[in-house]
Amino acid sequence: MSTPLTDRHQRVHRSLRISVVDKCDLRCTYCMPEDQHFLRREELMTREEIHAIARVFVDHFGINKIRLTGGEPLVRPDTVAIVRDLTQLNIPLGLTTNAMTLDRHLEGLIDGGLKSINISLDTFDAERFKKITRRDGFEKVHANILLALERGMRVKVNMVVMRSVNDDELLRFVELTQHYPIHVRFIEFMPFAGNHWGRERVYTYAEMLGRIGSEHSFEKLTDDPHSTAKAYRVADWLGTFAVISTVTEPFCGSCDRLRLTAEGKMRNCLFSREETDLLSALRRGEDIAPLIEANVLAKHAMLGGLPPFKPESQEEVLHDLSVRPMVSIGG
Ligand code: 5AD
Ligand code: SF4
Repeated sequence: MSTPLTDRHQRVHRSLRISVVDKCDLRCTYCMPEDQHFLRREELMTREEIHAIARVFVDHFGINKIRLTGGEPLVRPDTVAIVRDLTQLNIPLGLTTNAMTLDRHLEGLIDGGLKSINISLDTFDAERFKKITRRDGFEKVHANILLALERGMRVKVNMVVMRSVNDDELLRFVELTQHYPIHVRFIEFMPFAGNHWGRERVYTYAEMLGRIGSEHSFEKLTDDPHSTAKAYRVADWLGTFAVISTVTEPFCGSCDRLRLTAEGKMRNCLFSREETDLLSALRRGEDIAPLIEANVLAKHAMLGGLPPFKPESQEEVLHDLSVRPMVSIGG
C-alpha cells in the first residue's frame, strides 16, 4: 500500500526527476557556470542505488512518473541499463537529453522500453548553437531529433527563450510543428547560480503568445492538472507548442515534481535551498521513507521560498539563489 506524498499546502506529489550524472558534453551558458566542478564517480548513486531509491518512491508513495535528467544522462555509461531497470517499475519513464550522442544509444533505449524523449535545442543556427552551448553540435542534434521521430519516439523539443539571444527564432520553432508530430516547449529563462540571469533577459510568456499570434492563429489545448506547460496547437498542424512560464506566471500550486540529484540528495523544488541526503542514509542501511516524507512536508508555497521573480526583487533573487547551478539539479 502506498501513501501519497502530500505537503503542508495539500499538494500531491507524483512525479520524480532523477539526475543520473552532473557532467555534460555541452556547456550551455544558462545552465553551467564557467568554473563548474563535477562530482567524483564514487559520489554518484550507482545503478543499483538509483533503482533502490526509485522503488521506495514508487512502492511507498505512489510516485507514478519518472524522468531521467543530468547534466546529460547519456554521458553516463550505464544510462541505458538504468532505463531498463526503471521501466520494470511499470510507470511512464522519460529522458531529457541534449541528443549529442543519441544516435549511439537510441536502439538500446528503445529496447529498454523508453517511449518518450525531451531534447534540448535553442537555435537552428550552427554558429549561435556554438555560442550558447560553447561547443559544436547543431548538425548532430538536428539529425538526432529526426532519427528519434523516425524510430517512433514521442519527441518534445525544449527551447530556452532568451531576449536578444534567440527570441527571433520563436516562429521557426513553432513551424517545426507543422509537418512533424513534435511538441515544442518554450521555457522562460530561469535564474540559477552562475548563469548571469537578469529579468530583462527573460522573453515572457505574454510576449511569446503575442509574437506567435501575429503570424498564426492557434488554439488552447487542455492541460493535465499537474502540467507545468500551457499547451497550444496551430489548427491542423501535426505537433503542438507549449510555454513553461516559471518566471512570469509560476505554477507552484499545482506542481507535483520532486527531484533527486546525482549524489542522491532529494529536493522538493527546482529552486529550493534545502536538500535531504537520501543516499548516505541508504548506504548506512537506514529506512529512507521518513526522510522523503519530511522533505516533502518542508516544501515552501512558492519558488522554493525565493521572492517572486519581479524586476524589483531581482537583487534579492540573485542574492538568495542556491549554490547549485541547473546542471547539477537536473531539469
Ligand atoms: N532556464 C530555463 N531552462 C533551463 N534549462 C536549463 N537551464 C535553464 C534555465 N536557466 C532547461 C534546459 C533543458 C532542461 C533540462 O532545462 O534547456 O531542456
Ligand atoms: Fe548540458 Fe543540458 Fe545543461 Fe546544456 S542545458 S549544459 S545540454 S545539461
